[in-house]
Amino acid sequence: MRPRRSRCSSQRVRIHSVSLNARDLQICSGTYPAPVLPPVGLVPCSDGAGEVLAVGSGVREFSAGDRVVTHLSEAWQHGELGNEMQETALGGGRDGVLRKVVVLNEQSLLPIPDGMSYAEASCLPVAGLTAYHCLFGFERTLQPGQTLLVEGTGGVSMAALQLALSVGARPIVLSSSDDKLRKCVELGVAEGDCINYRSTPEWHTRVRELAPRGVDHTIEIGGRDTIIKAIQSTAPYGSVWVVGYMSDYAEPTAPGELDVAKAILYSQAVVRGVLCGSRALFRTYLAAHAARPEALRPLIECSFPFAEAHAAFQHLRKGAMGKVVIRCSD
Ligand SMILES: NC(=O)c1ccc[n+]([C@@H]2O[C@H](COP(=O)([O-])OP(=O)(O)OC[C@H]3O[C@@H](n4cnc5c(N)ncnc54)[C@H](OP(=O)(O)O)[C@@H]3O)[C@@H](O)[C@H]2O)c1
Repeated sequence: MRPRRSRCSSQRVRIHSVSLNARDLQICSGTYPAPVLPPVGLVPCSDGAGEVLAVGSGVREFSAGDRVVTHLSEAWQHGELGNEMQETALGGGRDGVLRKVVVLNEQSLLPIPDGMSYAEASCLPVAGLTAYHCLFGFERTLQPGQTLLVEGTGGVSMAALQLALSVGARPIVLSSSDDKLRKCVELGVAEGDCINYRSTPEWHTRVRELAPRGVDHTIEIGGRDTIIKAIQSTAPYGSVWVVGYMSDYAEPTAPGELDVAKAILYSQAVVRGVLCGSRALFRTYLAAHAARPEALRPLIECSFPFAEAHAAFQHLRKGAMGKVVIRCSD
């Protein structure tokens, strides 16, 4: 029998442009806060665009001469993926694209749309896609007329701002620089919706003046220094998208102090405050009890006569398992 030749799904790509992310700087300077440590001697950078020079025999989507842009992690093809994606992340878990020629498999590349330059395409894989994921990747997408708060004027924030303007949403922008805020006005942001977070350190109060119910979406990139104000700026049932960490990367040193922003970022859990529920929801809940009375029968630890209501409260204070009930008709 003739030995089977394995089919190669790699292509050689001449990199024409690489864009930089805060992440690349953090990785190069040893301050990357992610739970997966990059290997020593790593080739940095994840975001590149270039031209396919040659393809392996198993490659179906691309051929020599195609213009392609890198995708951060080949393990992440669909849906959502946790920190596992870091292991195959370019310029993170594995060598990146800051080189002239790179060999990548098909899962790490996408075609560049016509009319888009290599430089433009190289700006999209991390900063742009992260902004797009927040605003259009989940159920409650950014809608025309809604408000979006962006912190700073870096790659992620500007991509989010452009997406907001493109769908007719209203961006409110924070920056440390009046010059950068002026440029945001040129892009289409209302002058009154620009806030300098250095000269207005209590910027969340100003955001609530501009959007009294709070904004519908916030792109939170600051971390420890901004997350509470970001939450305070956001409307009930709005969304705070925790994507970044520009604050001091050092772990807190005070005993018992945890970094909430970092914990949320790397859990990718949905953290949501909840207040009780509606009457309609209560009706549904009662129906669930009616359907499964034994399984859902309320756990009553003890009950007190009406005259001993005070003792019932004392009992609750000690900590009951389940519920404490007062018999009002005894
Ligand atoms: N979760 C993800 O997958 C993901 C993807 C991309 C980026 N990120 C993270 O998101 C953050 C931003 O990334 P980037 O690449 O867009 O960074 P970048 O291009 O370097 O921009 C950083 C900007 O952040 C702003 N900034 C810094 N401290 C701030 C503060 N306290 N309050 C408000 N704004 C502040 C500054 O804006 P001004 O100059 O206007 O003040 C600065 O220009 C980084 O922490 C990065 O690691 C995460």
